[in-house]
Order: sequence, then C-alpha cells, then structure tokens
Amino acid sequence: MNVIDDLALRSPVRAPRGKVTVVHDTSKGRFVLRRRSPTVAEAKKLVMAIRDTPKISAYPVSAWMKGGALLAELEDGTVAGACLQDDFFGRWTEIAVLFVFEEFRGWGIGAALLAEARALLHARRRHVMIMSNNPLVTGMLPKHRFQILPSRAEFPDNLRPHRAALTWIYDLRWWMSAYRIREIIRKRRVFGRQPPYTYGLALAEDSWSVPPYYNR
Ligand SMILES: CC(C)(COP(=O)(O)OP(=O)(O)OC[C@H]1O[C@@H](n2cnc3c(N)ncnc32)[C@H](O)[C@@H]1OP(=O)(O)O)[C@@H](O)C(=O)NCCC(=O)NCCS
Repeated sequence: MNVIDDLALRSPVRAPRGKVTVVHDTSKGRFVLRRRSPTVAEAKKLVMAIRDTPKISAYPVSAWMKGGALLAELEDGTVAGACLQDDFFGRWTEIAVLFVFEEFRGWGIGAALLAEARALLHARRRHVMIMSNNPLVTGMLPKHRFQILPSRAEFPDNLRPHRAALTWIYDLRWWMSAYRIREIIRKRRVFGRQPPYTYGLALAEDSWSVPPYYNR
C-alpha cells in the first residue's frame, strides 16, 4: 500500500476524502495536502480560530464550503492548516486565506500550502493575487514568484491593464459581506490598527511568475 492510500484509509469516515496532492514528511511530523472543502465542523473551527488573528479579515463558513479550499491534514485526519482560493473576477483568483493552527506553525505547512495553491492556480491559468501584512508571508512572496506591489497607488506597466480588477472591482466584492464588515470593526477594536498590506501578484502568462516547483 502506498503512503497516499495508507493516509486516506486513516482519515475520519465523516470527512470527505478529496484529492491528496502532496505528502510532506517533516522532522515534526507528516502531513498531506488535500483538495477538498472542509466539513461544517472543520470550517467552524477555522472560522473561530481566524477570529483570533488580526492578520486575516474574515471568511464565514459558507465561504469555506463553496469550493477552492486546500487543507493540510495530519495522518489522523486532523486539519492543521488551510488555504482558501477565491475566483473573484475574470481570470483573477485571490489566495484569500493562508492559515495554520498555532500548534502546527513552523512545520512548513504554510509554505507548502502556498506552493501548492500557486501550482494549482498556474495549472488553471489563473492570475493570482495575495495581500498580507504578516512579515512571514510577505517574506515568502518573492520565493513563490509573486511580483510585489507595495501599494495600490502605482501599478507597473505589466499590471496596468488589471488595475480596475485589482482595485474597485475587488474592493466592491470584498465589502459586500456583512460578516466581514462586522469582523473588521470588531478586530480593529480588539487588535488596533494593523500595518498596511503588501500585494503579491502573479500573471498567468508571465514566464517569470511560473512557480519554480511547477511540474504538471
Ligand atoms: C503565516 C502562517 C500561515 C505561516 O505558516 P507556518 O506553517 O507557520 O509557516 P512555515 O513553517 O511554512 O514557514 C514559512 C516561512 O516562514 C519562516 N518562519 C516560520 N516561522 C518563523 C519564525 N517564527 N520566525 C522567522 N521565520 C519563520 C520559515 O522559515 C519559512 O520560510 P522559508 O519558506 O523561506 O523557509 C501562520 O503563521 C499563520 O497562520 N499565521 C496567522 C494567520 C496569518 O497571518 N495568515 C497570513 C495571512 S495572508
């Protein structure tokens, strides 16, 4: 029996199997990345944990259930981290959530999720956007072949045709969630003002943006 079958058999019965994309063996433990939506219980756990971080605005359970999730699972099926990809306009997809539960941070799960999301989106010929004010994430962006946009005030030539998609179209959709607005107000009260966002952008056709580990 290969590692993937072995891990799939040990997953909890109620969790959908989904497609295992990568198996990672680290000094801290083994995890797999699986393309599947979380169960409602798993989504609620993610939503509750994300309430405690100022670095991610807010995505309700329904956002997790509508597809685009990539989960990092331990051998017993426990979800250790997740990435949510959101197709927001035309060929643009946002890596909307990159999250690892605190007890599993530093295992390489965040980097593995980001690498796999990049590869999956490149295979779909999607343009990719990520915005973050977490130095761990902004530090990872060049390695994952994102073009850095320090602010949206000035777009370089290659991104100028995408300005509308990445500014007012994106913003309009972003603010259309009452849950998110409530959470942003609550988080501002609890955590205070946060540093500005850095934007990481990757155009599908841009040869520089092909993920270095892309091999599909
Ligand atoms: C950001 C986050 C996803 C990182 O996940 P993680 O699994 O702990 O990260 P990894 O172990 O994969 O490490 C990622 C990189 O950060 C570095 N790193 C990890 N922990 C670090 C630490 N404590 N100090 C310095 N660097 C660290 C790693 O060396 C790695 O860099 P490399 O790829 O160049 O080797 C996780 O900390 C998290 O969920 N934070 C809260 C939510 C959040 O801020 N999400 C991002 C929103 S865009």
